[in-house]
Amino acid sequence: MEFKTHVYYMRDGVPEEKHIEVGAKTIRAGGTVIFPTETVYGLGADALSDEAAAKIYAAKGRPSDNPLIVHISSIDMLVYLIQEPISEPVKRLIEKFWPGPLTMIFKKSGNVPDSVTAGLDTVAVRMPDHEIAFELIKKSGRPIAAPSANRSGKPSPTRGNHVVSEMVGRVDVIFCGDDSRVGLESTVLDMSGEIPTILRPGGVTKEQLEEVLGAVRVDRGLTEEKETPKAPGMKYAHYAPDAPMYIVKGSVENAARKINELAKAAEAEGKKVGVLATSTNGHLYDTDIVIGFGKSDDLEEIGSNIFHALREIDSMRLDVIFAEAVDEKGIGVAIMNRMKKAAANRIIEV
Ligand code: TXA
Ligand code: MG
Repeated sequence: MEFKTHVYYMRDGVPEEKHIEVGAKTIRAGGTVIFPTETVYGLGADALSDEAAAKIYAAKGRPSDNPLIVHISSIDMLVYLIQEPISEPVKRLIEKFWPGPLTMIFKKSGNVPDSVTAGLDTVAVRMPDHEIAFELIKKSGRPIAAPSANRSGKPSPTRGNHVVSEMVGRVDVIFCGDDSRVGLESTVLDMSGEIPTILRPGGVTKEQLEEVLGAVRVDRGLTEEKETPKAPGMKYAHYAPDAPMYIVKGSVENAARKINELAKAAEAEGKKVGVLATSTNGHLYDTDIVIGFGKSDDLEEIGSNIFHALREIDSMRLDVIFAEAVDEKGIGVAIMNRMKKAAANRIIEV
């Protein structure tokens, strides 16, 4: 299906009333709107309409067995979407992390159409911490179902130009705002069962959740290769550049030595090599192409740059990519989760 797409640039991240009104009208009419959030850009439609949600899957080329996150601007919207009264632990999580990069899974009410939840009896909900997203939901008066706004299989978009280049002609409206602050998708936390369980690591860390909840479980599908993840979306080979990527894990010196060795061998075979490294260590590499994704001691900066760096390095038509690992602590867990997917779990320990 071809769409006439209206693109609005909001570089400073401040929505203009009349443009937000166009977006809100589009949502109410069952159309599709791409908007920035603090995590990644989302591709939204009315979460209360089956037909609107179906347009999201079509625009992304996404399998419809993968449920969508519903974005809200008020607690009244949450109450409308879920089956049971809001529990005490959920109240504490809302207090601490909303608006923000935490998605919670609840038993759904009868108001949520099946196409939004891919037939599951649970619904994923989050309140985004971004003025454009928030105003769009509020002005349209509808909860907005929105996956990340990438074409299926590509890294989530974290810059306005990512969505424009990929999605013009596939949706009705695009709001191009600032670069995504967090740059990694939200943490998905299942609150529908007995024990709170992380289904996807993201901008809110396990440690932060444990401060509020006590013990939190991590879905075995995230740590054991043989287990099927509970979040349907986690089973797909996301984010992968065309060239095979290898993550090299070890001390700074050992990793640099190993990467240079591997790069030299690949170049000797006539291969075009790229390195994905922290900007702190970039000078240690001998290859022509080194993409820096942030200072090694600033995981937040790395988080906000990682998808952009993956897209950049993918655009260089390389034959092989070597990447530095980051520390798996705090949001480093989420960063490495995405990097491992991009590398199809090819990890070299030195
Ligand atoms: O930060 C984000 O979460 C972004 C922005 C746009 O809000 N959205 C996003 O959506 O990343 P998406 O569709 O790319 O990822 C949603 C993930 C998928 O892995 C999906 O399987 C899981 O959440 N999910 C959604 N509803 C679920 C449910 N009811 N039960 C289990 N997993 C669910
Ligand atoms: Mg996604």
